[in-house]
Amino acid sequence: MERHGDMMILLTSLLVGSGEDGARGEDQLLPRAMGQGALGCKDLTYISGLQYVGSGFTKLVLRGNLLNGKEIALKSVHNGGNDVTRCVRRYGDLTGCGTLATYKLHKEVTLLRTLRHPGIITLHGHCYENSIAPDFRVTAMLELGSPLEMIQLLQTPWEKRFKICLELVNLLHYLANSPMGSIALLDFQPRQFVLVDENLKVTDIDDATMEELECKTDKDCALEFPSRTFAVKCSKAGRCTGINEKRNLFNAYRFFFTYLLPHAAPPALQPLLLDIMNATGDLRYGINETLEAFQNVLNLYKSGMNHRRRLLYLKDYMLIEGYRLNETNDGYRCWPSYNHRGCVLSVHNSEEAAEFCSKNTNCHHFIIGHQRTWTGRLLATFTSSTHKLIPDVNSRVYMKKPSNVKK
Ligand SMILES: Nc1ncnc2c1ncn2[C@@H]1O[C@H](COP(=O)(O)OP(=O)(O)O)[C@@H](O)[C@H]1O
Ligand SMILES: [Mg+2]
Repeated sequence: MERHGDMMILLTSLLVGSGEDGARGEDQLLPRAMGQGALGCKDLTYISGLQYVGSGFTKLVLRGNLLNGKEIALKSVHNGGNDVTRCVRRYGDLTGCGTLATYKLHKEVTLLRTLRHPGIITLHGHCYENSIAPDFRVTAMLELGSPLEMIQLLQTPWEKRFKICLELVNLLHYLANSPMGSIALLDFQPRQFVLVDENLKVTDIDDATMEELECKTDKDCALEFPSRTFAVKCSKAGRCTGINEKRNLFNAYRFFFTYLLPHAAPPALQPLLLDIMNATGDLRYGINETLEAFQNVLNLYKSGMNHRRRLLYLKDYMLIEGYRLNETNDGYRCWPSYNHRGCVLSVHNSEEAAEFCSKNTNCHHFIIGHQRTWTGRLLATFTSSTHKLIPDVNSRVYMKKPSNVKK
């Protein structure tokens, strides 16, 4: 009910305050105009197919189609959300509480207009409506993502989980060196992120701060988390310099790395990953060293992790070039697979695939096509039963030689 109430308010606000009226006053409210082609209030009047996507403490997000069919996300204040309702309960001022929440979204839009990075959600435009006094309404038009589901991510192959962590590290590197100074995300949790085409992007940045704490002594710079506290130095200028970068990094460690990074990682990478875990968990590394360590892992992974050159296992397979199998969903499964109904893994080469197949008794064939993962590794499909071969120039089938098939 609450959701529908808010959706109705948003819809009415779209209809009432859009267009010329809605745009009025915009120039006084914004430091600089958005680039050409940015969406505005007028575009909101043509939005169709509105649907609920998500909501948090302060904001409500809907998806909708622009006139050209493109889908975007619309963020507005969640009047039935905890932030506004708690405030109203406390102060009894509906308009005041709405304005306070609107200010947060306004701040977010302003930040999104300044900060541009692949790890930050793209702002397509915004609509400020001050025509419906005493209300002042803000709608942010963003690229549409899908909420980050940690439970689902835990079931995906390590390579995908590593990508999310690496993208996060790239984002934190940008935030530590942003045009506005070193930025900390105070409300740093997986639910403030979304995936857009499998790329991690932060969407909730109304809690971002560019200020580093003022201090008199080092004691004023204690960086506290539920599990531990870190000492940060108070600079001569009276600031806890570096505290923002450290806060982000430890949050990345506790909310992302611990869940996504070490679990089911390739054995050859485990010592490096353990090092990253220890160094970020103790804040021994800053963001530069962390980024460097992630790049080392990526390079080693791309190189095939010193996979041996001698072909030990491949000789037990017959190669049938230019074919694939017509049905690969034969009940043979492995975990975590790229395909939930079968067994699809990324491999450095056919020898690595042969090794996997030989070590798993029910695996009798594997197929390597032209598809590659984001790191450039090949995708191999493993199967157990015999299938019909279909010509396919982009694919090759490897069959265990009869003498090697255990009965
Ligand atoms: N661009 C987007 N695409 C898809 N879902 C989004 C997008 N932005 C936010 N969401 C979803 O909406 C929720 C609320 O947005 P958020 O900015 O986090 O608001 P709040 O400040 O209330 O926490 C998020 O947790 C996320 O699931
Ligand atoms: Mg949020």
